Amino acid sequence: MAPMTRLRATNSIPTSLMAKYYAQRASAGLIITECTMVSPLSNGYVNCPGIYSAEQATAWQQVTDAVHQKGGRIFLQLWHSGRIAHPSLLNGKLPVAPSAIAAVGTLHSAAGKVNLDTPRALATEEVSQIVEQFRQGAKNALEAGFDGVELHGTFGYLIDQFLQDGSNQRTDRYGGSIENRARFLLEVVEAVCEVMGGQSVGIKLSPSSTFYGMHDSNPLATFSYAIEQLNRFKLAYIHLMEPTEDDLKHGTAIDAVLSTFRPFYLGSIVTNGGYDKFKGNRILETGAADLVSFGKPFIANPDLAERFAMDAPLNNVNFANIYSTSDRDLDRGYIDYPFLDS
Ligand SMILES: Cc1cc2nc3c(=O)[nH]c(=O)nc-3n(C[C@H](O)[C@H](O)[C@H](O)COP(=O)(O)O)c2cc1C
Repeated sequence: MAPMTRLRATNSIPTSLMAKYYAQRASAGLIITECTMVSPLSNGYVNCPGIYSAEQATAWQQVTDAVHQKGGRIFLQLWHSGRIAHPSLLNGKLPVAPSAIAAVGTLHSAAGKVNLDTPRALATEEVSQIVEQFRQGAKNALEAGFDGVELHGTFGYLIDQFLQDGSNQRTDRYGGSIENRARFLLEVVEAVCEVMGGQSVGIKLSPSSTFYGMHDSNPLATFSYAIEQLNRFKLAYIHLMEPTEDDLKHGTAIDAVLSTFRPFYLGSIVTNGGYDKFKGNRILETGAADLVSFGKPFIANPDLAERFAMDAPLNNVNFANIYSTSDRDLDRGYIDYPFLDS
């Protein structure tokens, strides 16, 4: 099950409702949770959960317990939103980023829909502090009973912002050359692997996504370097997202992510983006990918694995209720999709 933000936490604390939602989906081979903040300054959306405090870690325990009781496995997705944030979500502070370059787009903040502000460029020593926040997030995830963590390197959030030169114009050791721009990503991976070993760590990347105005002058060189460097950590997997139909409409630098980057990576690759049972089986049979993850189909089908096994019809997603409902009925569109046997 691919990571999916659902915005049902209360003041960054995971709830029993979230435990129920994830437990309903425990028959997925591996659940990756929604993106989860590693610090108060990494808060991109209202009602996102965090993993930087003991209270948050304790509350996550009810989620991991519920999934484990049903025989499932669950990784926490560690996340820093960087420039995709708004002062109303950050106690009035400016969002931070590699460089003072605003992302393209709008955000649903605590103050309603807003344009993304120009962020504050991080000082060099602050970058190391954020690496330590990821390390602490991994420690807290272990305390909370997670089987591992996935680093959120996709969609124009902080790790991606450092990697691509459209958002990184730094002149210190974190900017300029590809080696320098990949340094933050690799330092975070190293820190998190020191906590729990590479076999319990994954990372998700989206080399073709132009979401939030992301771009790079040479995406093939940038991402192939980063992916090749990841070999040394013997990770559980790298999770590569294919372009969405929207990306393809706007034009992407890399149309076929898996086939482009497979030659650079020796370990397991999870492929993601627009798969159904048929397409998923086909790609596994070719050996091009080792695993397939499903996002949207899991929103509406808690028993997706059973449905695939039985070739049963799928429930459709109601997109109106994905993040919340007009009356804040948090159950609706979240834990009320029917199982086959109901
Ligand atoms: C509602 C929703 C929330 C998402 N939130 C996240 C997220 O928190 N972290 C992430 O890496 N990807 C997120 N994604 C992207 C999915 O993980 C996945 O890459 C995408 O939906 C494509 O897979 P699919 O075609 O199987 O849905 C989200 C997608 C959806 C639909």
